[in-house]
Amino acid sequence: MSRKFENKVVIVTGGTSGIGLATAKAFSQEGAAVFITGRRREALDAAIRQIGGRVKGVQADMSKLVDIDRLYDAVQQEHSHIDVVFANAGGGEMVPLGAITEEHYQKTFDTNVKGTLFTVQKALLLLRDGGSIVLTSSTTSISGTPAFSVYSATKAAVRNFARNWILDLKDRHIRVNAISPGVTETAGLNELFGNGESAENTKNYLASLIPAGRVGQPEEIAKAVLFLASDDASFINGIELFVDGGHAQI
Ligand SMILES: NC(=O)c1ccc[n+]([C@@H]2O[C@H](COP(=O)([O-])OP(=O)(O)OC[C@H]3O[C@@H](n4cnc5c(N)ncnc54)[C@H](OP(=O)(O)O)[C@@H]3O)[C@@H](O)[C@H]2O)c1
Repeated sequence: MSRKFENKVVIVTGGTSGIGLATAKAFSQEGAAVFITGRRREALDAAIRQIGGRVKGVQADMSKLVDIDRLYDAVQQEHSHIDVVFANAGGGEMVPLGAITEEHYQKTFDTNVKGTLFTVQKALLLLRDGGSIVLTSSTTSISGTPAFSVYSATKAAVRNFARNWILDLKDRHIRVNAISPGVTETAGLNELFGNGESAENTKNYLASLIPAGRVGQPEEIAKAVLFLASDDASFINGIELFVDGGHAQI
């Protein structure tokens, strides 16, 4: 049986954990040569073992331009082009208005906004015409959460990149879409909620607010990313696809 991403070259930033890891696995299972990034060497090595197939890891902080260059240099050593970029590396911390520091602002915007911007811009030389870009936004792009304003602002920015880049990339027929996960079971989410019992209680509370009655799994986000990246989504461009059990729709 033919696989959907056979011999395609796919970049997954933040591919060592959670949504990125599940998506890198899914691309690999569909036959892609996958490049993942993450800042921690050990996590990168563990992810490479888990993903299997044709996966390469590049230790990189996507908020640093020199690291992004190193990623694409590594890709170029093996491939003449890229088919798909999943710009997913990101994260945030809970800080209420009144306690926001310059450092919190800078770290969150550098990772989520600057990182996404230059991950995509620097991919353009290698990205083939007709290729696909998927950006990780969040349901927070359109909804409010206490103590999460800086993160939410970054995700609104990421969502808006998609609207504008489809115009800049029009002549190259490159599609750009944003995926907006709702509450999804990942190490990053558990850390945000203080891990352990505190995280379990918060997730249970949030599950009670979600029409689907539960939080999401990274594999459910991965399936939607593969759809957006694939030819099945050939006329889908500039959208924000919510994968959130209905949370942002009510
Ligand atoms: N989980 C949710 O409920 C949820 C909901 C909406 C949106 N999202 C978004 O989904 C994306 C993935 O989150 P997740 O929940 O899967 O989190 P996660 O489990 O913490 O995974 C984050 C991944 O990104 C990497 N990463 C973080 N900062 C990076 C940087 N500056 N450079 C390179 N890699 C970096 C991490 O590795 P290192 O730490 O080793 O760098 C890790 O591989 C994020 O953009 C997040 O904002 C998550």
